[in-house]
Amino acid sequence: MKIALAADHGGYKLKDAIAAHLKERGIETVDFGTNTADSCDYPDYADPLCRAVASGECELGILVCSTGLGMSMAANKHRGIRAACCSEPISAELTRSHNDANVLCLGAFIVGEQTAFRMADIFIDTPFSNGERHIRRVGKVNALDGDK
Ligand code: RB5
Repeated sequence: MKIALAADHGGYKLKDAIAAHLKERGIETVDFGTNTADSCDYPDYADPLCRAVASGECELGILVCSTGLGMSMAANKHRGIRAACCSEPISAELTRSHNDANVLCLGAFIVGEQTAFRMADIFIDTPFSNGERHIRRVGKVNALDGDK
């Protein structure tokens, strides 16, 4: 399993800590940056990560900015991406099992490192439920086109 990671300047320290945590678990990660505190624009980092997840190069992605909000907005512009901004473990679990989310967005100003590790683990370890009603609802989400 390959997990894509990306962050802006507000999230790169937490992103790097998550990478180290996942490495300890023997999980391969792909780092899409940023890797410095220099101010940058979160959509520029969400975009390549989402392309890697949508193409299947990586199974799941984790995006970190200061709040997780801008990253989730940018990520959800991509077809095939279902990004969820979570700040506690139950949401991280249910967005995998109910929504088949494939990108977890975290806010480095919002969650501490240990909570972030726990959410990353839960997100990675929880499968989609494959329940009929959830398949139907996720299908409707995937088919939505608000411009039509
Ligand atoms: C950057 O200052 C901040 O706006 C960004 O990290 C993120 O929280 C946006 O949603």
